[in-house]
Amino acid sequence: MSVRRLAPLLDQPASFAFTPENLTWLDGQVAKYPDGRQASAVIPALWQAQKQNGGWLPQKAIEAVAVRLGMPTIRVMEVATFYTMFNLEPVGRYYIQLCGTVPCHVKGAIDLKQTLLNSVGDERHVTEDGYFSWLEVECLGACCNAPMVQINDEYYEDLTPDLLIKLIDDLRAGRDVKVGPQDGRVSSEPKGGAKTLTDPALFDGSLVGGWRTRFENSVTAETDAGSATGKNDMKPGRPGATNASQSSATNAPAQSAQNGESPKAADDKAGASDTSKTTVSEPGASADAKAPQSDKSYTMTPSKPEEGRVVAGSKGTTPISGTPTSGNSEGGQGAGEKPAGVDPGAKPGAAPGAN
Ligand code: FES
Repeated sequence: MSVRRLAPLLDQPASFAFTPENLTWLDGQVAKYPDGRQASAVIPALWQAQKQNGGWLPQKAIEAVAVRLGMPTIRVMEVATFYTMFNLEPVGRYYIQLCGTVPCHVKGAIDLKQTLLNSVGDERHVTEDGYFSWLEVECLGACCNAPMVQINDEYYEDLTPDLLIKLIDDLRAGRDVKVGPQDGRVSSEPKGGAKTLTDPALFDGSLVGGWRTRFENSVTAETDAGSATGKNDMKPGRPGATNASQSSATNAPAQSAQNGESPKAADDKAGASDTSKTTVSEPGASADAKAPQSDKSYTMTPSKPEEGRVVAGSKGTTPISGTPTSGNSEGGQGAGEKPAGVDPGAKPGAAPGAN
């Protein structure tokens, strides 16, 4: 299947021209792309040409596509010879693609291959009546229903040699054939029928909302059982702590108002009458509780002199002990010297020299 050559001259038609309907269709495809990008429609154009020509692409069709899209013929030839969806030689009216990849292989594709060799002939060979030709291809994505074949645009799955022979006979005789699984199963459900989700009530709407009723009933039953055994009396997690549900509201405008304190901010005055906005403190938490500290220690890096922090290299910088002084002799100071303009007793955030 890797051989991608044009059909011999003997098989090549003398000419090819799109039908008016296909030209209209092709113009619609080209219109999907910006001006000057009509080459983007090369694959749909080749596909339509192949369909018009009975399932394969003659050289004249490839050239017609190149002219229509304003492309060099070799560029269109590259596409046509690359993709195996394009047949470069005549195929039968029913073109059979047999999947020979591992899942299909282990499920019996090798027997189907022998069946095709016996009933149709060699690969790429078109039967005398022009009805059939076949080709072994890679996975067609229906592995759950292996082994399978694709005939023209349809899949036929769960095949056995007998089922494949019957399928070929029916197609040749013009009888209706069943597309999809051939052994009676629906889609790719388990062999022998579905084994899960078989309750009809799942599909008639009678169970809609049932989970809520069951959930509410179970919660009610648990609550009743808890009341009877006293399990609902929550205990503090540690000595001295109180249950969150029992703790009073603190640190809130409403609580301050209850304690006779005046609201401090304008927003608090409004919030003082709204007890719904009170927050409940966590047991053991205090107003000055610190945020959890990272286990990674770090040292704050001085950034801006105007913020009262020292900046390396600027005047008044405290050199790091053991490091050489800056090359700037004007402001350079040795380790252990008190830098000018920096008061070690200054509070963080205070301007240099401020106390
Ligand atoms: S292996 Fe045959 S369809 Fe995937």
